[in-house]
Amino acid sequence: MPKFTRRRLLAGAAPIVAAPVLAKMALDGNAEAAQRTLQGHVHDHPHMGHAAMVGAEVPAVGGPNDLDALLYPPAALPYEPGRVREYVLTATDVDLEVAPGVFFPAWVYNGTAPGPVIRATEGDILRVRFSNAGSHPHTIHFHGIHPTNMDGVFQIVEPGGNFTYEFEARPAGLHLYHCHSTPLKKHIHKGLYGAFIIDPKELRPPAKELVMVMNGFDTDADGGNNFYTVNGRSFYYARYPIRVKRSELVRIYLANLTEFDLINSLHLHADFFRYQPTGTGDNWEYTDTVMQCQGQRGVLEIEFAGTGLHMFHAHQSEFAELGWMGFFEVVDD
Ligand code: CU
Ligand code: CU
Repeated sequence: MPKFTRRRLLAGAAPIVAAPVLAKMALDGNAEAAQRTLQGHVHDHPHMGHAAMVGAEVPAVGGPNDLDALLYPPAALPYEPGRVREYVLTATDVDLEVAPGVFFPAWVYNGTAPGPVIRATEGDILRVRFSNAGSHPHTIHFHGIHPTNMDGVFQIVEPGGNFTYEFEARPAGLHLYHCHSTPLKKHIHKGLYGAFIIDPKELRPPAKELVMVMNGFDTDADGGNNFYTVNGRSFYYARYPIRVKRSELVRIYLANLTEFDLINSLHLHADFFRYQPTGTGDNWEYTDTVMQCQGQRGVLEIEFAGTGLHMFHAHQSEFAELGWMGFFEVVDD
C-alpha cells in the first residue's frame, strides 16, 4: 500500500507539479518510487504527468461496465397511492481496489462505496431492511422528512443485528443516506453512504439518467484522502468514458460524500449545464462548475451542444490529479 501522503506533499518538499506523477506512480503500483519522489527526489517527468490527463492511457481498476449499477439508477416510477418500495442493504467489511494495486479497507453497504442507489417516488412507503454483517456497530441515516425513530441515529445496529427502516418518502429531491454511528467521520469515510433519489409525483421529463457520488479514500489512514473518485474508482471514467447521445437530455444526480475535505466540485469542459440545488424548487443555475460542501447534492441537466470527448473533473486541480477526472463521450445517434 502506498505510504506517500497528500498532506506531506503539500506541506513543502515537493512542488505541486509532482502530484500527477505521484498519483501515476501509485496507480502503477510503484509505491516505493512515489515515496522516494516525495522524500525529495522530485524530477520532472513530462510523459507521466501528461499521461494522467489522457483517458485511454490512464490506468483504472476493472472493466468497461463494472460501475453500471452505481452509474445508472433504477427507473423512476409514476406515483401510485400506497405503493411500497423495498430495498435490502447489508453492511460488510471489504478491501476495495480504488486504484490499480491500491486497496482500501472499507466498510460498505452491499459491497461497494458508494452503496446502491435507493430510489422512490414521493408518497411511496420506503422500506429498507438493514443487516449488519460487519465488524462494527452501524446504522442507516436517511436525509429527508421522517419520524425520528426512523432516523438511524438512536437505533444502533450491532454486528449480527438488523433493523427495518420504514417511512413515507418525502420531499422530492436528491438526498443521501449514510451510517450515523460514532465516530461519525470514520464510519462515513470508510464507505457507508449512497445516493437517495425521491422523484416528484409528477415525474421529471424523460432523460438519460446518471448518478455520480463524489468521494475520497484515505489509503494510509492519516486523516487525509490519497485518492478522489466518482462512484469509487479513481480515473475510472477517464479510462471508460460515459457515452451519451447529443439528441438526448442528460440528467445527473450529483452528491458529495467526500470526508476530510470540506468542498468538492464538478467542472464540465466545452459546455454548460443547468443545476438545481438539492433537486428541489424552481431555482436553476446555468453554469459549467458547481461546488458542494460535505453532504450537499443537486441535479444537473444538459443537452450537449457538440459531440466528442467532454472532460469533467473536480475544479480542485489536486483532486483531479488524484483520480477525480473523466469524460463524457457525446455521439450522434
Ligand atoms: Cu457505521
Ligand atoms: Cu448526512
